[in-house]
Amino acid sequence: MKKRILSGIQPSGQLHIGNYFGMIERMIQFQDSSDLFCFVANYHSMTSINEKVKLEKNTQEAFIDLLALGLSPEKSTFWVQSHVPEVAELAWILSNYASVGQMQRSTSYKDKIANGLKPNMGLFSYPVLMASDILLFQSELVPVGKDQKQHLEITRDIAIKFNNTFGDVFTIPDIEIDTSNDTIVGIDNRKMSKSYNNTIPIFADNDTIKSQVMNIITDSAGLKDPKDINTPLFNIYSLFIDEESKNELKDRYNTPGLKYMEVKKELVDIIISFFEEKKSMKEHLLSNIDEVNKEMKLGKSKAKKIAQKTLKKVKSATGLL
Ligand code: TRP
Repeated sequence: MKKRILSGIQPSGQLHIGNYFGMIERMIQFQDSSDLFCFVANYHSMTSINEKVKLEKNTQEAFIDLLALGLSPEKSTFWVQSHVPEVAELAWILSNYASVGQMQRSTSYKDKIANGLKPNMGLFSYPVLMASDILLFQSELVPVGKDQKQHLEITRDIAIKFNNTFGDVFTIPDIEIDTSNDTIVGIDNRKMSKSYNNTIPIFADNDTIKSQVMNIITDSAGLKDPKDINTPLFNIYSLFIDEESKNELKDRYNTPGLKYMEVKKELVDIIISFFEEKKSMKEHLLSNIDEVNKEMKLGKSKAKKIAQKTLKKVKSATGLL
C-alpha cells in the first residue's frame, strides 16, 4: 500500500520558484510514489482575505496553476478545500479536544497578531481546522515547512486525545519537516517570500522574469577575482541544473573572467524555457474553464468519499445521531 501523504496550499497569489522547488515539485513526484492528497486551502485563507472577488480569483488561480504545473486529480486526490465542507464539521467536533492554552501558545498565531491581524476565532482556531484537514483523510505523513511544525504537533495531540477517548478512529500522522524550503533564497539573499518582494514568479511575463533576474544582488568582486558561490545568483541558478552542470558552474565561478551579467542572461533563458510548457498549459486552461471545472469536480468527488467515511466513523464513535 502506498503511503497517504497530505498537504494544503493557501491560495495567496502568484506562485514563485521558491514555492515550486520548496514544495510543488515534491508534490508532483508524490503523485507517483504515494497516495497524495493535496488541496487549495481556501477556508484557511479567510483568515487573511475578506474580499469576495479576491478569494474567488486566488482560489481558482491556485487550482489552475497547480494543474498547469502537473498536479492532477486523476493521479492524486486534488481538490478545493471548501468543496468538501465535511472538514468544517469535523473541525467543530475536534475543537472539543483542542486545548485553549496550546492555541494561545501557537507562535504562528502570535506572529499574525503581531503583524496586525485581528485576533478573531478563525485565526485562533486555525490549527484545529488544519488538524481536521489532516485527520479527515486519515493522513499518514504530512510534509511541511518548519513554520508549520507546531500546527502538526497540535494535530497529533488532538488525534491522540480523541483516540484515547473513543478508540482508534484516526490515523496519527507523522510529521516530516522539509528544510529545502528554507534554503531557497530570493533575489536579495533573504528567504524567497512574497512578503519580501524578492521572488521570481513562475507565471509572470518574460520581461518581469528578466528584470527580477537582473535585480539579483551580486557582490563587487572584480573581473579577475574568483567568485563566491554562496550567493543568490549561484543558488538560484543551481535550482535549475543537475549536479554535473552545477560543478561546471562552480568551476566557472572559480576561474577569473566570469561576468555576472552573462550568468544572469543565461539564467533568464533557462527559467523561461523551464516553465514554457507549463505557461502554455496555464493559457490553455484559462481559455478552457470547463476543463478546470471538470477537474475540480473529480477532485471533489474523490475527496468527499474518504471524508464521509471518516466522518461517519467519528459520528458513530462520539454519539452524534
Ligand atoms: N497552514 C498551511 C500553510 O499556510 C496550509 C495548510 C492548511 C496545510 N491545511 C493544511 C498544510 C494541512 C498541511 C496540512 O502553509
